Amino acid sequence: MATIDLQQNAQDHLWMHFTRMGGFGESHDVPIIVKGDGCYLWDSNGKKYLDALAGLFSVNIGYGYGEEIGQAALEQMRELPFYTNWSYAHPKAIELATELASLAPGDLNRVFFVSGGSEAVEAAWKLARQYYVARGEKQIKHALSEPETRHDAIVSATQRGPHRYKAIARHIAYHGTTMGALSINGIPALRAAFEPLVPEVRHVHNTNRYHRPSAETEQEFTQFLLDDLEQAILAMGSETVCLVHMEPVQNAGGCFLPPEGYWRGVRAICDEYDILLSADEVITGFGRLGYWFGSERYDIKPDIITSAKGLSSSYGPIGAVIATDRVMEPFLDATSIYSHGITFGGHPVMCAIALKNIEIMKRDGIIGNVRDKQDVFRAKLETLLDLPIVGDVRGTGYFYAVELVKDQETRATFDDDECESLLRGFLSPALFAAGLICRQDDRGDPVIQISPPLIAGEAEMDEIVGTLGTVLAEATKRMQLGG
Ligand SMILES: Cc1ncc(COP(=O)(O)O)c(C=O)c1O
Repeated sequence: MATIDLQQNAQDHLWMHFTRMGGFGESHDVPIIVKGDGCYLWDSNGKKYLDALAGLFSVNIGYGYGEEIGQAALEQMRELPFYTNWSYAHPKAIELATELASLAPGDLNRVFFVSGGSEAVEAAWKLARQYYVARGEKQIKHALSEPETRHDAIVSATQRGPHRYKAIARHIAYHGTTMGALSINGIPALRAAFEPLVPEVRHVHNTNRYHRPSAETEQEFTQFLLDDLEQAILAMGSETVCLVHMEPVQNAGGCFLPPEGYWRGVRAICDEYDILLSADEVITGFGRLGYWFGSERYDIKPDIITSAKGLSSSYGPIGAVIATDRVMEPFLDATSIYSHGITFGGHPVMCAIALKNIEIMKRDGIIGNVRDKQDVFRAKLETLLDLPIVGDVRGTGYFYAVELVKDQETRATFDDDECESLLRGFLSPALFAAGLICRQDDRGDPVIQISPPLIAGEAEMDEIVGTLGTVLAEATKRMQLGG
């Protein structure tokens, strides 16, 4: 199809996600991406872009492995194009589950496949809810079988305490769009149109330290966050909470790193109140932080990991919920099942793609590349701090955010109208016109998110920083002129 026809059909028929569909037409076209290789993309007019967002934080190996991964997909298509994980297994799901169990830290040994990140979060919350039901039933069954505990078991079976169904997440965090995952989301603007959401989620402070009082120490900040979490649990009724769900490094709001002692404290609180801790590794999994999982980087010891995106480097839609032996235990009874399933969970072709992706990541030293170059990348990005509009550069691995401010000294941020004119009106089109794809995000304070494929080298880093520098210098001028 010619570009002009693609344009027309896109405007007439395609409903793009999170997109102002009324904005296309006379003034600007639908950006149509037709080709990718390495860290680069090309549009239907032949213009080249450096993809500093790796698709959606997800094309970890870059765009150049289509032949090899396609061959693995083709072979699986020939052998067994589809079969289900509902009561059946097939070799590729078994192989991938075994591989993930070996890559995930500790005793995270059990893998439940889904099609993407939202489904993984959805499945994690359902798993946590049912875990306490299954564990309670198992305990009662066991007690009933012993003459000396039989009486107590009958009493406790008839006086069951409150059901654990509530979840805790963090302000501004993004965890997906299906109703359960959306409820866990901490972004009010995404939630508003869909209220009432799934009961019951509370959001606690995230680890954004940039706007905290300057005299506060890191230790005090950690304590403040942990107190906030504990207070939320107590206010909700600790015996009703089943899940604490958080990213190792929070993406939305701009790469909020955990302060020292944070994850140790979160784990301890979850243990104290017998609540499952779920690490949302949909972005941080598969190398973005220089480790297979961010949980390893920060020694989080979660009970559940949710993953997707980088699991296949987005060459196929697949996600995984990875659970510890302890979480699996009540589901190992002869008559017990986790009452959840989706047709495409563990799709053999997607498993073959994910396995090939992991093989490539190992063979080509993709995670090693992140570890070797992350400091250089950070140092290059930090040169942007010379621009008055850049307040903060934060992140780790190949996962960074640049926070924009009106005033570096006071850290004053932009209001909604200023964000609209600066981010959407100027920065977004200017960066795209300059051939750089990254994300301008104002779900919290305004940031530019930078998260390139994990194969990026110094040449790509220089290009990212060079283009950002030029465009942000122009944004600074506009800001100073008040327009
Ligand atoms: C941390 C996190 N969790 C969940 C999701 C939802 O993933 P998906 O878009 O694959 O449903 C995302 C997506 O960006 C994410 O960043």
